[in-house]
Amino acid sequence: MTVIHISAECYPVAKVGGLADVVGALPKYQNNAGISSHVIMPYYDNKFTKAHNFNKIYSDTLTLANETLEFNVLMLNKDVLDFNVYFIDVPELIFKDYVYSNEDTERFLAFQIAALNWLTTWNDLPDIIHCHDHHTGLTPFMMQQCKQYAAFKNTPSIFTIHNAQYQGWFSHDKVNLIPEFNFDNVGLLDWGGSINPLAAAIKCAWRVTTVSPSYMEELKKSANGLENLLSSEAPKCVGVLNGIDVNVWNPETDPFIQENYNTKTINTGKVANKAYLCKKFNLDAKKPLFAFIGRLVLEKGADLFPEAFKTILNTKNASILLLGSGNSDIEEPLKDLLNFKGLYNAFIGYDEALSHNIYAGADFLLMPSRVEPCGLNQMYALRYGTIPIVRSVGGLKDTVTDIDEPNGFGICHREITAASVVHAVNRAIELYKDTKTFSALQKQIMTIDHSWNKSAITYITLYKSIKQPVND
Ligand code: ADP
Ligand code: GLC
Repeated sequence: MTVIHISAECYPVAKVGGLADVVGALPKYQNNAGISSHVIMPYYDNKFTKAHNFNKIYSDTLTLANETLEFNVLMLNKDVLDFNVYFIDVPELIFKDYVYSNEDTERFLAFQIAALNWLTTWNDLPDIIHCHDHHTGLTPFMMQQCKQYAAFKNTPSIFTIHNAQYQGWFSHDKVNLIPEFNFDNVGLLDWGGSINPLAAAIKCAWRVTTVSPSYMEELKKSANGLENLLSSEAPKCVGVLNGIDVNVWNPETDPFIQENYNTKTINTGKVANKAYLCKKFNLDAKKPLFAFIGRLVLEKGADLFPEAFKTILNTKNASILLLGSGNSDIEEPLKDLLNFKGLYNAFIGYDEALSHNIYAGADFLLMPSRVEPCGLNQMYALRYGTIPIVRSVGGLKDTVTDIDEPNGFGICHREITAASVVHAVNRAIELYKDTKTFSALQKQIMTIDHSWNKSAITYITLYKSIKQPVND
C-alpha cells in the first residue's frame, strides 16, 4: 500500500508548529509498520533547503486562473530523511523563506495543483492520498470533481484536521483559481458565503480525522462555524490521537540537551539541565521551575499568564521561563514581568534547541489551552520527566490524568482563568516539596508510551478499511 501525505510543513524541513512534527514522524512509523508512506510538501527557500542538495525529478507547467506557471518536483538524497519527501517548487509564485503569508490562497492552490498534476503521471497511482489542514483542503475536491484528475476519482482521500481555527477562507472573486471551476459544484466549496477549503475537505474527503478523539467531539459542538457540518458528516469522522517521534524526543540521546539521561539517571540529569537553564536565564534553580513553550495566542491560554505569573512571582515560590512568540498584546505584558529578576525570564522567538533544553530542564510545563486539538508539548514533557500542568481540553484531556485520579500523573484544571493557573501551580509547588513522591512521578511519566507505534497502525487500519466514500 502506498500513501502520500500532502502537507505545508514537515520536520525538520519546515516547522511552524505541531503539524510539522506529525508529518515528520507518522510516515516513518508507517514505513516501519510495512506500508510505503511518502510526503509531498512545498519547496521553501529556507535554512534547511539551502543546506542540502536536491535532484530535479520532474518539470511541467500548471494553470492558475489564466496564468501558466512552471513547476519542478525535487527530491533529497535518500539518506537525509528516513522517508521520501517530494518538494514542489513553483519558482515564479510560491516558495520564499517563510511557510505562511498573506498570499496563501494562490501559493497553496498552485502547490496542490502541481502535486496532483505530477501524481497523475505516476505509473502506479498511490492507494491513499492523506491531506493535512486547510492548505491541502482543496485536494479531495479536485480529486473528485476535476476531469483532469479523473484518475483519482476512486482513490480514497483522508483529511486530517490539526486545527479548525484556521480554515483558509477566500472570497468568491477567486474561484477561477480552482481548475475547471463551474457553478454547479460551488456548494462543495462554499461555507457561510466564502470559499472555505477546510469545509470543502470535510465535504469531499472520503474520511476525516482529528488529532485526538476529544477534539472531534468538541468540534461537533464548536468549530468556528463548522460544527453543524461536522455533525452532519459524523459517520465519516474519527479522532486518532497523535503520537510522538520517540527517537527525536529522547532524553537519553537528544543532541540538543546539556546532559543525557534515562529513568535511572534522571536525578542527576535533571539537575544538570535545570542548572544550565537557570544559569543561562538567571533563574533561581532551588525553586521549582515552571515553563511554557508555544504560540502566544488566545488558543493557548497565553493571555492568562501576565496576571497569573505576577501573583506567583510575588510569592517568590517559583521560577518561570517562557519560550514563544505571537500576539503583541500578550507579548508586551509578558516582557513587563522581566523586572522579576532572578525568578522570571522569557525568550520571545522560536528556538528548536532551546525547546529541547526546556523540556529537559524544567520541573513543570504549563499548558492552559482554551483549545488544544492534540498538543505535543505535554507528551514531550512526559518523556523528559517534566510534569504537565494542563487545562483538560482536547488532546490534553486524552493524554493527561490528574494526580488525584487513579493512576494520575499530571495536574489538570478546568477553568480558563488566571486564578485556576495559580491554583494549579500551587498544587505543583506542594507536590515538588514532597521530594519522594515528586521524584517517583518523574520516573514514572518517562515510561508512558506515546510513540506513534499505536496510532500509525490505527491510520493504516483506517486506510485498509476504506472501500468507498461514506454516504455514496
Ligand atoms: P501547535 O502546533 O498548536 O503550536 P503543538 O503542541 O502541537 O502545538 O506543537 C508545538 C510544537 O512546536 C512543539 O514541537 C513545540 O516544542 C514547538 N514550539 C512551539 N513554540 C516554539 C518556540 N517558540 N520555539 C521552539 N519550539 C516551539
Ligand atoms: C495543531 C494543533 C495542535 C496539534 C498539532 C499537531 O497545530 O494546534 O494541538 O498537536 O496541530 O496535530
